[in-house]
Amino acid sequence: MARLAIIGTGYVGLTTGACFAHLGHDVVCADVDADKVARLSAGEVPIVEDRLDLLVREGLDDGRLRFVVGAAEAVADCEVAFLCVPTPQNPDGTADLSYIEAASAEIAAVLPAESIVVNKSTVPVGSTRVVERVLGRPDVTVVSNPEFLREGSAIQDFLHPDRIVIGCEDQSAAIKVLSLYLSVTAPTVVTDPASAETIKYAANAFLATKLSFVNAIAAVCEGVGADVNDVILGLGYDTRIGSEFLKPGPGWGGSCFPKDTRALVRIAEQGGYDFRLLDGVIAVNEEQFSRIADKVREAVGGDLTGRAIGVWGLTFKAGTDDLRESPSLSVIERLVAAGAVVRAYDPTVGSDADLPPEATGIEVVATPAAACDGADVLVVLTEWDEFRWQDPAELAATMSTPSVVDARNLLDRARWERHGFVHRGIGR
Ligand SMILES: NC(=O)c1ccc[n+]([C@@H]2O[C@H](COP(=O)([O-])OP(=O)(O)OC[C@H]3O[C@@H](n4cnc5c(N)ncnc54)[C@H](O)[C@@H]3O)[C@@H](O)[C@H]2O)c1
Repeated sequence: MARLAIIGTGYVGLTTGACFAHLGHDVVCADVDADKVARLSAGEVPIVEDRLDLLVREGLDDGRLRFVVGAAEAVADCEVAFLCVPTPQNPDGTADLSYIEAASAEIAAVLPAESIVVNKSTVPVGSTRVVERVLGRPDVTVVSNPEFLREGSAIQDFLHPDRIVIGCEDQSAAIKVLSLYLSVTAPTVVTDPASAETIKYAANAFLATKLSFVNAIAAVCEGVGADVNDVILGLGYDTRIGSEFLKPGPGWGGSCFPKDTRALVRIAEQGGYDFRLLDGVIAVNEEQFSRIADKVREAVGGDLTGRAIGVWGLTFKAGTDDLRESPSLSVIERLVAAGAVVRAYDPTVGSDADLPPEATGIEVVATPAAACDGADVLVVLTEWDEFRWQDPAELAATMSTPSVVDARNLLDRARWERHGFVHRGIGR
């Protein structure tokens, strides 16, 4: 068992800390947010993530998991320190490494001799060297170990990953980091830091490409009278293609894909390659937000001014409370700009105060039915399971017009039509 420090207790850091404690390591997690540290120390998990609260509670009770304020405090006695801090987007699309640099500077003087620093944040090629330079500690080895977890299934993904990627020039440090994953069974790729860093961006760019591709195919289906659901089935059975990430929707978003795709375009540019394919993937995604807004406009007869729109789903996907770069908010922004009045329900968003400041013109309501009350059209934007089981007959009675734009193809179209709804899905 090893003594680990985790710097940053967001989606990645908290999952990493709780899972490593679950695997038997002694873990100290640090954050700059004292309030968050106090809540976590009391077993209160501030984010929605399946089973994360159970693992945090287990770690606290077993004495294997602690939370402290400040990175320096966490690393004082560690063998391995994981950087799990944000890498947001700079205005020019490149990744902002200031959090990585700040955290590295904080721990530089305190790290025990011969310890290892692992970069789990998503960082551009060359960032391992940046951390080495800021640390200025020749006795400390820096390793890249990108994280591939998905919000909503973070624990499952951490404990049962598709692969573990380690980027390091030093074999013994690579083996040490790999050995921390104890009972986790997964293929491993041990490579140089630049390749490890590229793998993470390439993976996110490829997944975004699949989503933009299927949204484009959905548009083709609408044009030629095909049904995208059947097209996906026919595609997905091809083992060279696979069915994962082939579901049309309102566009992709979240805290990673938008910034990571733009960062890869810039990384490629700096490496002398014009990544036009990825530019196209990003452009198709922007179009998708407008395509969904256009469907809503069509559903209300062409003019959104003053029209009441009920929205189901605000988070960027189901299973999380994360609203960062949510496609729902991008679609709603277009509706509000066109004069619509939006009332929205999401199971993880309690009130207007939970929304980011740029999300204006949205009234958050407490039930799916309240979003529909008096609405001219209902728009389904996040694939929360509970939406499937709402009663269309009851909703039809309270809406101005029984009309739904189902941007996730989530609802049973025949059932909703039976109850008088006009159902507009995507790609069918
Ligand atoms: N969220 C995901 O699904 C996901 C998946 C894979 C990789 N990543 C990558 O992992 C990194 C972290 O993402 P996240 O979603 O967990 O971020 P987050 O914003 O949820 O959490 C980051 C945390 O780091 C803390 N922090 C910032 N500076 C600090 C410092 N100097 N010392 C201690 N704590 C500090 C913040 O207060 C915050 O709690 C990013 O690079 C992201 O791209 C994210």
